[in-house]
Amino acid sequence: MGLGLAFESSCDETGVALVEDGRRVICAPLYSQIAMHRPYGGIIPEYASRAHLEKFTPLLAEIIKTRQLVPGDLDYVAVTTRPGLVGALLVGYQTARAAARHFQAPLIGVHHLEAHLAAVRLSGNELPYPAIGMILSGGNSAIYRLHGPGKTVLIGDTLDDAAGEALDKAAQILQLGYPGGPEIEKHAARYLDQRGYTTGEESKLETENPFPVIMKSLGREQVQFSFSGIKTSLLRRFDPTTPEVMPALAFFYQERIVEHIVRNLSHAIAANGQLPVVAAGGVLANGRLRRALQLQCEKQGVRLLIPENQFCTDNAAMVAAAAELYFAARVESPYTDISSNNAFSIRRD
Ligand code: KG4
Repeated sequence: MGLGLAFESSCDETGVALVEDGRRVICAPLYSQIAMHRPYGGIIPEYASRAHLEKFTPLLAEIIKTRQLVPGDLDYVAVTTRPGLVGALLVGYQTARAAARHFQAPLIGVHHLEAHLAAVRLSGNELPYPAIGMILSGGNSAIYRLHGPGKTVLIGDTLDDAAGEALDKAAQILQLGYPGGPEIEKHAARYLDQRGYTTGEESKLETENPFPVIMKSLGREQVQFSFSGIKTSLLRRFDPTTPEVMPALAFFYQERIVEHIVRNLSHAIAANGQLPVVAAGGVLANGRLRRALQLQCEKQGVRLLIPENQFCTDNAAMVAAAAELYFAARVESPYTDISSNNAFSIRRD
């Protein structure tokens, strides 16, 4: 049990959340900077830091006022300390430190990736240990073995881009908006519909896919992502003077990415003794991917936990959910200070 106040500012979302027990969100005001960065087709780090600086105070004031919080009310203050944009992280860290001092509560720093995984707790599920944890976001694509809070072992990660990055860059090539993931998903769904198929029938178009299978020679014992080849392949295939081919390219591109992710997860499950799977990060907001992962886990007989859509992308409630694991276990977080060491696979008993 514990009442936690959490701060998130690793990238382009400014979030503050009040969470009970690491599971029940009392309030979680979030300011998304997406509209501000959209004209640039990506995030401008300096603008992100400035926006965090401007937004944290009103968001925090909203929580303090509506909940009439006073010193002594909080059990802990949580903050994302890594990885992320350094200026953006520093704004969140200093704000959280000031809040911890004001409320006379301990400060618990968490790793952004453990926060993404802990987001499953916000829908009433406990984070199982040991488990396989898969993170797919704008900056990370990796699979881990989770042994407990702060005890994580890397199984495999990406050779080049992250899955979200591959979708964002594809959307840029296809002259769609930012962030790219939701745009690609929307146009892919429209294409499927235009072709007269419904959700779940994507594989009926498999033989028409013009993109090569990603890392075709990946052995069954290997877990390794790569997204840069397919991105180059898209760049070569798309001619802006024939924009009518865009929906088909979005569809087939997404199909190859989903297939690659599912294959890697299936290898990780087979090699790690049928552990339950927790999959998280912004890319898990993708419905096509969620369904494909569910099917694969059913086939291999393992349980799959994915956070609710609203908690897949960056938010502060997931930061509280991760910090509460340390608070409840009375263990010190290895991520409490800001550090340039972004490693997530660090310790195991
Ligand atoms: O986890 P997140 O919010 O931020 C990072 O920590 O990176 O993930 C952002 C990424 C972006 O690349 C975005 O395009 C992707 O998640 N994303 C999606 C969807 N919604 C967001 N990718 C695929 N389908 C979506 N519906």
